[in-house]
Amino acid sequence: MADARPGLLVHNAAEIATMAGGLRRGAGQADVGPIEGDGAVAAYEGRIIAVGQRREVERRLDEMGIARDSVARLDAQRGTVTPGLIDPHTHLLFAGTRQAEVELRQRGLGYLDILVAGGGILQTVRMTRAASDDELLAGARRWLAEMLSHGVTTAEVKSGYGLDSATELRLLQLAGRLSEEGPIEIVPTFLGAHAIAPEFHDRTDGAAAYIDAVIDEQLPAVAEQGIAAFCDVFCEQGVFDADQSRRLLTRAKELGLPARLHADELRPSGGAELAAEIGAQSADHLGAISDAGIDALAAAAARGTPVVATLLPITSFYLDEPHYAPARRLVERGVPVAVGTDFNPGTSPAPNAQLALAFAVHRLRLTASEALVAATINAAGSLGLAASHGSLEEGKHADLVVWQPDSHTLLPYWLGADLARVVVKRGRIVHGPAAPA
Ligand code: NIG
Ligand code: FE
Repeated sequence: MADARPGLLVHNAAEIATMAGGLRRGAGQADVGPIEGDGAVAAYEGRIIAVGQRREVERRLDEMGIARDSVARLDAQRGTVTPGLIDPHTHLLFAGTRQAEVELRQRGLGYLDILVAGGGILQTVRMTRAASDDELLAGARRWLAEMLSHGVTTAEVKSGYGLDSATELRLLQLAGRLSEEGPIEIVPTFLGAHAIAPEFHDRTDGAAAYIDAVIDEQLPAVAEQGIAAFCDVFCEQGVFDADQSRRLLTRAKELGLPARLHADELRPSGGAELAAEIGAQSADHLGAISDAGIDALAAAAARGTPVVATLLPITSFYLDEPHYAPARRLVERGVPVAVGTDFNPGTSPAPNAQLALAFAVHRLRLTASEALVAATINAAGSLGLAASHGSLEEGKHADLVVWQPDSHTLLPYWLGADLARVVVKRGRIVHGPAAPA
């Protein structure tokens, strides 16, 4: 049975990476806000009320008049405590699998060639349209459980496998249902412009005509229902160009949906430049970002209107791309960097944020500290949630992970090992030992 006590005291932490102080960039990207010694975190009714050395935290509880028996104690056993990981980019809601594509790519076909031939994303669209709500929910719940077990407490989830009003709306409604069910909190993103819909695919003006349909039909309905927090687009040579993407994202902003975009994933496509121009919350992928794109993101950050660079190295690995996003250059140019899984059935069937953290180190060449910042406070920033999520600070949501290793530098070191011992969401243990003392 779940512990009903309103308080939780996590104690005996060898290290707490608090991430206190908001979105990080430049040299700050490496600052995990560490507390060493005998660290503790206290939460009450879902919020963090104190972080520091155990004695100070206990004194604070006493000062606040919180009775000891209203606080469950969780022994971190000299492990590391961090904010819950935030996965800022997933395509969780889909039906079916696409393993045949792996072989096609092994035989030399490109990812975009497969899409243009009517496979890839369009294959998942066919299966998703045909799936029932229960089938889609069952798949999503299975992968959410996996994400939770690797330390994720908040995840962004995109639509984008419907490409018609009915299915796009259905996917966003299901994302809302899953978020209500918990424990993972979901930030829903509308991605009606994920590919040219099958109905438009064979037209020479297919991309432009479909973008019109997204703008005129899907987007107003999504905005009206209030079921998405962001609007996204696959801005890529051969899919939607920067002008089409600008039209969609500008209209979305007018309707109250801030922009994030798949930018320069495979080829330089002007996506990063567009993100900076329109003040997107996040520019994602950037595996093929141009020098001009880096300049644009650096300038936006220097102006005090940063676009978060949300990097997805598992995808570059899975597609065997020649280039990974230039994470080091982005950090050096003062662009805040986040990292996510891009979990999806085509380019990243990897529901594991801990693996993304490891790839951020071993492929993007971030340090362990920079990568952990990328997966917590900067991932929160990517979702516009840095004021409430992504760090262990008084007043913020009590979302945290107790990891088995005694230093955060070991989290990306062990590759593929399951290191999350306990996961806490809004002050409740949602993964790991059921009964705290
Ligand atoms: O982020 N590039 C577009 N969207 C996904 C892949 C989706 C799919 O292949 O199903 C991505 O890589
Ligand atoms: Fe994606």
